[in-house]
Amino acid sequence: MNEDKILHYQEAGRGKPVLLIHGFPFSNRMWKPQLQELGSQTRLIAPDLPGFGKTPIPSAPPSMDRYAQDCADLLDSLNITDPVILVGLSMGGYIALAFAGLFPERLRGLMLLSTRAGADSEEGKAGRDKTISQVRNSGTAELTDGLFAKLLAETTYEAKPEVTEELKEIMREITPEGVIGALAAMRDRSDSTEQLKQINVPTLIVHGQDDRLIPSSEAQVMAKEIRSNELHLIDNAGHLPNLEQTEEFNQIVRDFLAKF
Ligand code: MLT
Repeated sequence: MNEDKILHYQEAGRGKPVLLIHGFPFSNRMWKPQLQELGSQTRLIAPDLPGFGKTPIPSAPPSMDRYAQDCADLLDSLNITDPVILVGLSMGGYIALAFAGLFPERLRGLMLLSTRAGADSEEGKAGRDKTISQVRNSGTAELTDGLFAKLLAETTYEAKPEVTEELKEIMREITPEGVIGALAAMRDRSDSTEQLKQINVPTLIVHGQDDRLIPSSEAQVMAKEIRSNELHLIDNAGHLPNLEQTEEFNQIVRDFLAKF
């Protein structure tokens, strides 16, 4: 383990360790309401993935396995050797599934939020390539504007200006290099569907009913395959239920954590 490569992270609370992996193209700032409100029950550790937030751009091209290894290295650096509860939203979920495949013995529980197990379709891969060229040629503005328009439920845009402002702020911090690395890693990720049957820890699946980036049917696919799981579909939430319906989301997580 190279200390220079350890991910930057935020931490809150005490108790059983819970590692929160953010989605694309965000940073650990997206977990603010969870870091503020769930610390009485658990020790929350929220890294910035390489190239996002305060963690520098990776020296080698990232992959889902590489990101998962970075998360394991962070746990090592904190001397956390007991199994952890791993939370991944969207791209963070792809990484959580890679982690589950690589380090099943380090896993105590899993939360898969707004994510899917399948790989990109051919059309999806072509879309990633197009976005990579666009970011290379003209920066990240088009990507973030396009994404922002689809990220949230209609009601969130209308009723929660603080959420939309915070997201814009987080996306203002992104760098073309970090984004390009992550887009290529998502494009090249493998299909984890078969692996879902091997997951043998309690799993919480949460998805917004109005998610326009990953449809909630993907959550149902995962729920059919994972042995021990509970599925919650949240009304009036798009891709970021933890920010859009914070109270309901945090209660679901509290109830799940109480089982450990
Ligand atoms: C994310 O939120 O991490 C991304 O939307 C995932 C993806 O583009 O596949």
